Amino acid sequence: MEKLEKIINLAERRGFVFKSYEIYGGVGGFYDFGPLGVLLKNKIKELWLKDILNMPNIYLIETPIIGPRVLYEASGHIENFYDRLVECKSCHKRFREDHLLKGEYGEIEIKDNKALCPLCKGELTEARNFNLMFKTFVGPVEELASESYLRPETAQGIFVNFKNILNSMRAKLPFGIAQIGKSFRNEITPKNFIFRIREFEQMEIEFFVRPEEDEIWFNFWVEKRFKWYTDILGIKKENLVKHIQSEDELAHYAKKAIDIYYRFPFKEDEIEGIANRTDYDLKRHMEFSKEDLTYFDEKTKTKLIPYVIEPSAGVERILFALLCDAYDEDEVPNEKGKLEKRTVLRFKPAIAPVQVAVFPLLSNRKPLIEKAKEVFGIINNSSIIVIYDETGSIGKRYRRQDEIGTPFCITIDFQTLEDNTVTVRDRDTTKQERISINEILDYLKDKLKI
Ligand code: GAP
Repeated sequence: MEKLEKIINLAERRGFVFKSYEIYGGVGGFYDFGPLGVLLKNKIKELWLKDILNMPNIYLIETPIIGPRVLYEASGHIENFYDRLVECKSCHKRFREDHLLKGEYGEIEIKDNKALCPLCKGELTEARNFNLMFKTFVGPVEELASESYLRPETAQGIFVNFKNILNSMRAKLPFGIAQIGKSFRNEITPKNFIFRIREFEQMEIEFFVRPEEDEIWFNFWVEKRFKWYTDILGIKKENLVKHIQSEDELAHYAKKAIDIYYRFPFKEDEIEGIANRTDYDLKRHMEFSKEDLTYFDEKTKTKLIPYVIEPSAGVERILFALLCDAYDEDEVPNEKGKLEKRTVLRFKPAIAPVQVAVFPLLSNRKPLIEKAKEVFGIINNSSIIVIYDETGSIGKRYRRQDEIGTPFCITIDFQTLEDNTVTVRDRDTTKQERISINEILDYLKDKLKI
């Protein structure tokens, strides 16, 4: 099995990710997140929030998913947010023109000046624009006035709150407004597991700056965000790439953008984009809403329209990158000392969805079970994410935890009943240490760096 297949298989088997509506055959581009997937997504969001909210000038908000047509006329999404779609006249499979041109389906055959379908060699249609936004109507009447869209980015909810934050928080430049929430894109070809999906979560910051300081803050955010992936999430530096967007890659609102790419097993691709959106959005919303969205600069006693630097990351893509980065196979001794193959997710301890597992050595000895539940209770009362497991041999239980990346397994054995110590097994070294139950919380917090 290829590495990618193994990762997807593990993710589905162990409760990270499931295909949505699978019992009805599934719907392309939609995924459910199981218990471990949710824990991991929560960790990603928690660590993102922790990292940005320790800056003094970032304000977190939450805005609706559905927005009126006028919002997306102003933002330029109705006019510009499309992909070029090509369809096979024979098998009716649809493709993104840019994916065909980039060679993602191999070399495209041309016959009688017509491009042929890479799958069935049928004739392809001319490319046409396909808007990626999901359309809906607010209220019972389906008319232009009630036409609305599911947001394709959380950013627009932020821009329309610019004045509210200025007034309510007395914000001073430079400052940021941040939001975490679902976004929707009717992707033509959702693919590569959870890489390109139709419903996903974004973590975005619109950072408002004086126009002349845009370069400084752009560089600041590129560096800060890159460091977050390596130092906080523990992603290997060699698997990350800074990609400078070319002129034809830039979104309609951007003057400059640098993407952070992860080297996925299928190809290196974007997990986060940092864009200089200039004053494009505030200007457009001023024009369409007729509201004054300028900033009064106390220093110069003049009005200005701030520029915006936007770091925008996708939670599911980061989760996918974390799974790929952590996935490993090695050999470790089993209970009889014989080397055995194992699959292990080497998450940095602070990011692991489950941080500690507690086992009684045997599942048919009441004193061991009682003590193990007591230890579980002590840890569970802290902020550490802990599970209890008494099924199967100890070796099997270790393997199960290795496979989901649990950094520490605690076993309650007969010695525990005598001296109140437990064994703590390290996922990566498989070495065990004996620690007193009285010291277990401090020991774990130190190891988990929390
Ligand atoms: N507000 C700017 C913006 O939305 P983007 O580069 O289109 O910029 C930002 O998206 C991030 O959102 C991407 O880096 C990616 O992580 C995530 N994202 C975008 N489209 C996605 C999709 N179809 N599936 C999963 N994640 C997606």
